[in-house]
Amino acid sequence: RVLLEDRDDEVSNLSHTFNRMTEQIQNQRDDLMEANEQLDQRRMFTEAVLAGVSAGVLGLDGDRRINIVNRSAEDLLALPRTDLIDKLIDDVLPEIAQLLEQATLSQRDFVQEQLDLTIDGQIRHFNVQVTGHHGQGGEHGYVITLDDISKLVSAQRTAAWADVARRIAHEIKNPLTPIQLSAERLRRKYSQEIKSDRHIFEQCTDTIVRQVKDIGRMVDEFSSFARMPTPIMRDEDICDLIKRSVFAQRVANPDIDYQLSLTDEAMIVQCDGHLIGQALTNLLKNAGQAIAIKEDKLGQDGGRGDFTGKIDVALNFDDRLLNVSVVDNGCGLPKEHRNKLTEPYMTTHAKGTGLGLAIVQKIMEDHGGELTLEDAPEGSSGACVSLHFPRDQKRKGESNRPPREDVSETSTSISESKAVV
Ligand SMILES: Nc1ncnc2c1ncn2[C@@H]1O[C@H](COP(=O)(O)OP(=O)(O)OP(=O)(O)O)[C@@H](O)[C@H]1O
Ligand SMILES: [Mg+2]
Repeated sequence: RVLLEDRDDEVSNLSHTFNRMTEQIQNQRDDLMEANEQLDQRRMFTEAVLAGVSAGVLGLDGDRRINIVNRSAEDLLALPRTDLIDKLIDDVLPEIAQLLEQATLSQRDFVQEQLDLTIDGQIRHFNVQVTGHHGQGGEHGYVITLDDISKLVSAQRTAAWADVARRIAHEIKNPLTPIQLSAERLRRKYSQEIKSDRHIFEQCTDTIVRQVKDIGRMVDEFSSFARMPTPIMRDEDICDLIKRSVFAQRVANPDIDYQLSLTDEAMIVQCDGHLIGQALTNLLKNAGQAIAIKEDKLGQDGGRGDFTGKIDVALNFDDRLLNVSVVDNGCGLPKEHRNKLTEPYMTTHAKGTGLGLAIVQKIMEDHGGELTLEDAPEGSSGACVSLHFPRDQKRKGESNRPPREDVSETSTSISESKAVV
């Protein structure tokens, strides 16, 4: 701005014009600053929204390079931001690139599909949406939304199986008892009267009775899965439940070395002791079977050497969670279809029903907890299967002291003070 003098000549005119111009520039600058601030605010708002949504969101520019990644996308894809940003979608997620191709070919701005993606070696089920958008400069970008629906799909399958199991159990059970009674009656009544090939008659009736019993047992398994009892929650000492389950398994498998890493004091959990005991027994049985498979394999490969089957049961907790992990040094979890192991009737054992882990999963869901299956820590070929309980019902007298490491069962004592979960 220049100072205006009270004169009416060219210099004064020029000064007036100059001042008007600087005023306009000032106003435009203020407008620009305000627009910029608004843009910044909107961007921060969008970023906050993106960070808060549970769905994974990826933004792509016209060259299909990733330019936006939210936190959920990093978590769901198990990739850090740096491995995604500025990378071509075709290189990072080729399965999704195919979906983009479809959107481009069909000239649609919205495509949705369910895809299986391999994340950290595990197949996960995703619902993927691709939405196209045009920028002001005419460039074409995409927004990709990812929802992990593995749990939903698994729950749907389980529900469908439970329904089938219930119907099958109902329909099969009715005629079983009359078949068994009739066969037994035939044998009792006529076996003395039959003169030729009596042993065949007896063999056949025996077979009927035996097979009917087998079917009956299978049906019971079906229905126990279809009608899992509603848990009756009580204060239970999880250490005690673990000890009881391990004791029963130790009797059945005296060659296996069971190690317990528990707390000195009782660890009280609100749960159905009977169901959690059942869940622990299922995990311990699986661990024992995995060790037997490993021993067989070592035997076939030329000898067991000094291999000893080992099962470690450990209790760990922090403020939020209490975990019980069962680690074995057996054959290890199968590499494929790992996410399906908890589905009913999924088994790799010749005589297994595949209901064990499905039942454990259901029990944990009913307790608001979770079941996880992982490889055993480094140096072991086996599996690490864990039960996670939420610790939301904190009460007085709780102790957050971490469990002692490597405490064997013999040296574990339970004192009077109680930790409450
Ligand atoms: N500790 C483990 N080590 C290796 N594989 C395991 C372990 N636990 C479970 N599995 C795998 O998970 C599959 C499913 O286990 P699940 O307990 O549901 O059924 P199952 O043991 O085969 O049959 P069932 O429990 O009815 O006898 C098993 O067949 C096995 O392949
Ligand atoms: Mg099992």
